[in-house]
Amino acid sequence: MAINFTTKLTLLSLLALALLILPSHCYTRREEEEDKSPEGILIECFTRCSREQPSEGRSTDCERKCVVRYKQQKEEQQEERRRGGGGEEHNRRDPEQRFRECQSRCEAEQGERKQHCQQRCRQQFEKERREQRGEGNRREREEEGEDERQESQNPYYFESKRFDTKFKNQEGHIKVLERFSKRSELLQGIDNDRVAFLEANPQTIILPHHADAEAVFAIVRGKGTINYIWKNQRLSFNLKRGDVIRVPAGSIGYLINNDNEEKLYALNFLRPINTPGKYEAFYGVGGENPESFFNVFSNEILEAAFKSPRKDVKRLFGQQNKGVIIKASEEQIRALSQESESSRGRRGGENWGPINLFEQRPLSKNEYGQHLEASPEQHEQLKDLDLSVGFVNIKKGAMTAPYYNSRSTKLVFVVRGRGRFEMACPHLSSSSKREQNGDTHYEKASADLSVGDLFVFPAGHPIAIVAHKDSDLELVSFGIRGSNNQKYFLAGRDSVWEKVQAEAKELSFRLPAKEVEEILRRQGESQFLAGPNLQKQEREGRFVGSILDFAGF
Ligand code: CU
Repeated sequence: MAINFTTKLTLLSLLALALLILPSHCYTRREEEEDKSPEGILIECFTRCSREQPSEGRSTDCERKCVVRYKQQKEEQQEERRRGGGGEEHNRRDPEQRFRECQSRCEAEQGERKQHCQQRCRQQFEKERREQRGEGNRREREEEGEDERQESQNPYYFESKRFDTKFKNQEGHIKVLERFSKRSELLQGIDNDRVAFLEANPQTIILPHHADAEAVFAIVRGKGTINYIWKNQRLSFNLKRGDVIRVPAGSIGYLINNDNEEKLYALNFLRPINTPGKYEAFYGVGGENPESFFNVFSNEILEAAFKSPRKDVKRLFGQQNKGVIIKASEEQIRALSQESESSRGRRGGENWGPINLFEQRPLSKNEYGQHLEASPEQHEQLKDLDLSVGFVNIKKGAMTAPYYNSRSTKLVFVVRGRGRFEMACPHLSSSSKREQNGDTHYEKASADLSVGDLFVFPAGHPIAIVAHKDSDLELVSFGIRGSNNQKYFLAGRDSVWEKVQAEAKELSFRLPAKEVEEILRRQGESQFLAGPNLQKQEREGRFVGSILDFAGF
């Protein structure tokens, strides 16, 4: 149908006139049917007004009607939102869209008012953008914090501050790690055992005492002499770094730092014998500090026991007030450091002398690190406790291949350096997650490690320990259920996968056996490997090397 231009114009004018004459709800209903936003309708309305090309007065009248209708629609919309619909939609729309809508609303204004309106739109837009960015940053911060939370929620990791001070004076201190069950019920299985740490200044003695716990000391730094009374003999042993010594429950012992300069640091494993997870030191010697247990006995008993008048007894137990770790003279230290004839490493025919960790046969050793262990199978002192004591040194930037222990749970103490561990634990996942599909779900237990920290490495749990790129990581560990333990490596040349049949791997990974084996065999090293940083460096080093080769250097 051909309609000439004049006819078209006339029709449009008639339509516009009809729209203007008709009450506003007549044409807005049609627009509502099209389901447009109030802003969209407003724009169309204005376009209609201007298309009509009316005189100044009529145009304003038309536009005013548009604005009135717009306000009504807006109010209806807000009312709807208050009733619970659409609120989210507002939040979901992006600030740019809201800005465009806002600007189109400003078209209803003129001159200065229009400018003000546009300015308000811009301000609102910028404010929203800032808020959105802030929200983004907050989310990022939350994700970063996620890692920290993971560490604080990681019940296997004990920061050094979790050692409580049991005794402290100017000559040193004794700190005891909080009870394992206090941290998490997941650690109930090792709750009877405790770990303590002692630090003593040069030329000091830790006063004679006994404890209701079996004890094993590991000398972390410095040197000293330990004396203890066993079945009417005094056994004494000189100790150096890496030495491990068992002290039987109830025997009175005293430890001397006989070095002139270096402090003595010793890690102490304790297995209480009276109350699970609780032990105490008993000082007979002393007075006020350490308090002597003799102070609780009545004077009649003490006078009779020592066959001495009350004043002598009072004097004997009334002098000491300097605490548990006491400075001694050079002469005293020399005398205290004499190994007794009866000891010489013998106790009723059994060798109960110190075991030096550095002299043990390595469980694993290569250029990236080593693991030395004194096992209960080899050492009489450790047999009844079924305890192993280990020393691990991971070279800077290196890592252990992921592995797990078959039956031993390790209490691992950081002696030197920095690093990190990551461990898979199915016990940490929330029960709801597990119930969802009935399958096992693993959570990561990880933490950054520094000197004085301890972590628990339970049997069966796969772990990887990485040394910081700038420092070797040295660890001393006590292994509960230390006998018949096996380390199973999960990557590297001697990983357990080597022993699993190709068909089993093919079925397990749902990949051709050849492909699986090709990937599993890429790591040629075993047990200790180049860590992520070292491998990156090596790659970059090779790259630089190849450029230099190319350039003829
Ligand atoms: Cu677990």
